[in-house]
Amino acid sequence: MRTPCIAANWKLQKTVAEVEAFIDAFLPLVKDNTTVEIVLAPVFTALHAAGKKLAGSNVGLSSQDVYHEEKGAFTGEVSPSLLMDVGCKYAIVGHSERREYFNETDEFLNKKAKAIQAAGMTVIFCCGEPLSVRESGKTNDLLAGQLDGGLKGLDTNKLILAYEPIWAIGTGVTASPEQAQETHKFIRSHIEKILGADAAASMRIQYGGSVKPGNVKELMACEDVDGALVGGASLEAESFAQIVNFGG
Ligand code: 13P
Repeated sequence: MRTPCIAANWKLQKTVAEVEAFIDAFLPLVKDNTTVEIVLAPVFTALHAAGKKLAGSNVGLSSQDVYHEEKGAFTGEVSPSLLMDVGCKYAIVGHSERREYFNETDEFLNKKAKAIQAAGMTVIFCCGEPLSVRESGKTNDLLAGQLDGGLKGLDTNKLILAYEPIWAIGTGVTASPEQAQETHKFIRSHIEKILGADAAASMRIQYGGSVKPGNVKELMACEDVDGALVGGASLEAESFAQIVNFGG
């Protein structure tokens, strides 16, 4: 049985005060939820305050990115152990926005993922295809390449995958449950090929891309969908609570 993991990726949004107000409103709404692993990923500047508020709760803290070096002359970067220091247990890597706007390659993401795990945190590794690739029927080839390069040498016990079709991110167009299931099934079969059957059976694969209270249930009902990575609909406490409480 895979415990679904549902994470909020707030991207470049929310001040410290807004994050604190969200958490105050959100925790009472999800405190009785024992079936979903719940995670919030605020901006770097709000992690410390969020970590304090979430301590002892059933909600985990994640960064949206990280650098793979521990310390040194890397101006502007933040290391895994500094994230641990403010309460992070997870770090997202390889979001399509980082791949696109910051030219992050699978080789670079693999370094980050290894550093996150070495510090003791869990990696949320994102993969996904643009519309042109889906339309040309090459989605599986692209995903296989992202997984081959990005997951090399990782500890599968500290790894969650997030499948986020780029055409569904922030567009209001969600992958249909059939599309999500078909692609998640392919991802799991590829994990079996590169990381083994046990890893494939236990790996959580989140779906991301226009997940909302109105479509979460049908997506989570898919056999190979084990949670969600949520952008827009995670910004309001009520809305994100409805998503994580999809099981009733
Ligand atoms: P939306 O839920 O806004 O489509 O964003 C998805 C996403 O990119 C989460 O990482």
